[in-house]
Amino acid sequence: MRRLPPSEATGLRTGARHSLAEVYRPADLVVLGLGVMIGAGIFSIAGEQAATTAGPGVILSFMIAGIACLLACLCYAELSSTMPVSGSAYTFTYVIFGEVWAWIIGWALILELQFAAAVVARAWAAIAVGAIEHFGVRVPAANLVQDVLVLVILVLLTGVVALGARVGLRALWIMVSAKLLAIGAVIVVGVTHIDVANFGDFFVPPKTLATAPATVLETFIGEGHAFGWFGIFAAASAIAFAYIGFDIVATSAEETVNAPKAVPKGMIRSLVLATVIYLAVALVMVGMVPYTKISPQTPLAGAFRAVGVDWMVHVIDVGAVLGLTTVILVLIVGQTRVLFSMARDGLIPRRLATVSRRYHTPTRVTLVIGLVAIVLAEFVPVLTMQQLVVIGTLFAFAFVAAGVIVMRRRMPHLERGFRVPLSPLLPALSLVATLWLMVNLRVLTWAWFALWMAFGLLVYLVYGRRHSLLARPNTPARPPQGRHRR
Ligand code: ALA
Repeated sequence: MRRLPPSEATGLRTGARHSLAEVYRPADLVVLGLGVMIGAGIFSIAGEQAATTAGPGVILSFMIAGIACLLACLCYAELSSTMPVSGSAYTFTYVIFGEVWAWIIGWALILELQFAAAVVARAWAAIAVGAIEHFGVRVPAANLVQDVLVLVILVLLTGVVALGARVGLRALWIMVSAKLLAIGAVIVVGVTHIDVANFGDFFVPPKTLATAPATVLETFIGEGHAFGWFGIFAAASAIAFAYIGFDIVATSAEETVNAPKAVPKGMIRSLVLATVIYLAVALVMVGMVPYTKISPQTPLAGAFRAVGVDWMVHVIDVGAVLGLTTVILVLIVGQTRVLFSMARDGLIPRRLATVSRRYHTPTRVTLVIGLVAIVLAEFVPVLTMQQLVVIGTLFAFAFVAAGVIVMRRRMPHLERGFRVPLSPLLPALSLVATLWLMVNLRVLTWAWFALWMAFGLLVYLVYGRRHSLLARPNTPARPPQGRHRR
């Protein structure tokens, strides 16, 4: 239950927390946010949810998840403006609730970032092979090719992250611009092919009974549903995957110029932009074809083919390949920053907090993360684990919302670059909305999540509790520095 003092978290006392280079300016944060948000969520999961769970109501699902995420984003904005540090939700929790909770959140963030990187790398490989095939080239041994592509992309992007944020940043700007152009084309061309009959009865298709309850909520009610309002709610939780990423912007706070003002702005702007883009893309997708005809595997490309605009398939392929590339890149960056913070605090081996003098990045922890992502993506059926990523993320959202309320009471005088309006009402609403999304996740997801967290707690009891810096007050606060290798 020991808590990290805020002055310690922000490095005020020791100056130890400024070993990373300041590279991001406000516009970079928006690109970072869009880079990590717009990916598998909109290119694949949205269509799959429309086809199987929500029908045209997927638009309402995007709105519900968007509102919940916007509320969470305001809470993140306040806390990261007060504590602009790499650990984001992990460090906030350390200061507000204490070490064991911080560890739990850190562990949930690993589920979010590390697993998401593996999930998206897998999805990327499938899309890349599809893109080649759309040119009429038959790819022999497609599964093997996908395995190789997963390896190539993860090695490449881990390398880019290890070499420094500046190298990645330039590539990020170019790829995000290209992905936005592709999405723009989807919206502009798609809108001319909308048939309003496809929207059905105000977007809510009739419900159908599923064979078994799947979500926690349905289990309470005793009935499983697809479509109808329950379908729309269940899809909202699955679609929350698409919004994952605005929270990762907060992990770049330590490397941002004038972070207390810039991070909240960057986070909110990128989330609002992503929400508008998602609603527009979802609208054209379910507007072009009846939901019963949407292909869960290739929803956007299938919709354009159905209306006879085949060339758009290639535009979507390019957008998706570049789009998912930036998602993986920023996920790895976010994960390095969170693990780096945990290592700096001694909860995982401190050697991992070494910053390379040459590249000014935590190279060691980056390489570990790249390796774990490769193992996960190659040997675990990660594509079935999207909801696990979502629950890890939502769990952190809940602590951040509660954290705003508690911190206003406990530390009212801390300087805040941004304040959530109407507190404690909006943070309380954020908590409710997050919990709502969580109960609309599958029972199976909850079971795996409980296992993961129990395992995490064990790791803490065995290692972190004893090695924590707070348990060893005489340890120097500055982590070991890398050797100068010029
Ligand atoms: N939001 C990211 C995506 O949809 C994780 O791929």
